[in-house]
Amino acid sequence: MRLTCNINGSQYSLVVNSDKPLNQILKEHIISFAENSQCMGASCGNCIVLINGNAALSCLVPAFKLNGASILTFEGFQKTRFCHDIERAYADVGNQPCPQCYPSKTIIIESILNKVDKENQNRISGFRGDQTSSAANEQAARSRSGAGAISSEMIAREMAMSSCQCIEVSDLEKIINLAYKYRSRRRARRS
Ligand code: FES
Repeated sequence: MRLTCNINGSQYSLVVNSDKPLNQILKEHIISFAENSQCMGASCGNCIVLINGNAALSCLVPAFKLNGASILTFEGFQKTRFCHDIERAYADVGNQPCPQCYPSKTIIIESILNKVDKENQNRISGFRGDQTSSAANEQAARSRSGAGAISSEMIAREMAMSSCQCIEVSDLEKIINLAYKYRSRRRARRS
């Protein structure tokens, strides 16, 4: 099949077997892709990439699901300003994932921030139809400022993709909430 997709900001048109997993495609076509495991079985989490903003195990995603997708490997994500919010949160909490899972956990954190953003945007647009509710307006304002805590359940669910237990869950929660606050503030300054 012909696969057309965007990888790390560049457009690709590749001829591949439709069942070929994404990590194999990346290894063959993206020189900088630095996956450091061959487990091919959803146990290590080292092959995680962002597909349309959501973290996914690239060893489990076949080519036929990728037409038109926007794919970011960690190497591509590191070059974006979004990575800086997470790196700043690592520094401020004084903890970060080990070198083995640093790329995958950073990608998962970005995926969580994207999901929370989407939920907040939906909530805000839902509230627009109910301008008389002060509680609703207050919640919307909290969401815009990044003040609301991100649910522990969501963090645990997303983080389950990475099997490495190098970092305390409580520190991960602090990092994710801080990164979201930094991102929200930066956005508020721009608007
Ligand atoms: S290569 Fe280990 S989970 Fe994908």
